[in-house]
Amino acid sequence: MKLKATLAALCAVASFSAFAQAPIVIKFSHVVATDTPKGQAAERFKQLAEKATNGRVKVELYPNSQLYKDKEELEALQLGAVQMLAPSLAKFGPLGVKEFEAFDLPYIFPSKTALYNVTEGPIGKGLLKKLESKGITGLAYWDNGFKVMSANKPLRTTADFKGLKMRIQSSKVLDAQMRTLGANPQVLAFSEVYQALQTGVVDGTENPPSNMYTQKMHEVQKHVTVSNHGYLGYAVIVNKKFWDGLPADIRTALETAMRDATTFEKAIAQRDNDLAMEAIKKAGKTEIYNLSAKEQAEWRKALLPVQKDMEGRIGKDLIQAINKEAAK
Ligand code: LMR
Repeated sequence: MKLKATLAALCAVASFSAFAQAPIVIKFSHVVATDTPKGQAAERFKQLAEKATNGRVKVELYPNSQLYKDKEELEALQLGAVQMLAPSLAKFGPLGVKEFEAFDLPYIFPSKTALYNVTEGPIGKGLLKKLESKGITGLAYWDNGFKVMSANKPLRTTADFKGLKMRIQSSKVLDAQMRTLGANPQVLAFSEVYQALQTGVVDGTENPPSNMYTQKMHEVQKHVTVSNHGYLGYAVIVNKKFWDGLPADIRTALETAMRDATTFEKAIAQRDNDLAMEAIKKAGKTEIYNLSAKEQAEWRKALLPVQKDMEGRIGKDLIQAINKEAAK
């Protein structure tokens, strides 16, 4: 009897120490290349998190849609098949949090400073809170940049978009934006864009230069217009149940790692986009066009009504609050 009890106690200790030694695994899935602002920041987070927790946490990165595509990754997060993602703010609509689509409104952020006023202030925090009811905790906003437009024909005036099939993310604001330009928007997963452009399934698209270059879209797009008409950023999110279940000291260490990775991400986003634009130019396959101030004003005038049209979906108060913050 005594032997049995001793054995049972030994087994308990052994399994406890095996359990204690097994690292907590964070599967972090994303859709872009490693050498993008998001890809590099994910790597930085992994390094910082593993160091700060002395290896008690292991972060496994799955870039470039290798594990899941846009829609699937959000489902996988809710099911707990992955623990961390950083989807673009244009992809939260299907989850039922359509307010994030405010970030897609054309010309809503006149500068990165205006954007940070929103993401780092009460509006940004309030939006992340809305994810809680979906079983998701929002940890940070990561930046990419302002978007360019591309196609196989020059896009100088808004009339040039008429009839073009343009790939968009799942956001209804982006749908409205393209329709306002007279184009036919088509939602496609990010991983499908290169092939869709190559085979003519769509004629053009929009993205910051870092995404365009790292997916080689410039090889299948003859024209790029530097329009900066809209913004692309991310929310770093985790499965709430997983996050809440972490030991408190681990969670604190991970929060610090995320803060530092976020500072790093913001510092490299613009530079990466500038370098990508240079690389696209250098590759020589795409003609780059910079809108003149007059053309920019015309694009703005054509696209500003999208803000009003989307009030019903996003909320007039939220749009007004963002505009007020952006104007500071
Ligand atoms: C896209 O789908 O165009 C982008 O949102 C991809 C990304 O995550 O940057």
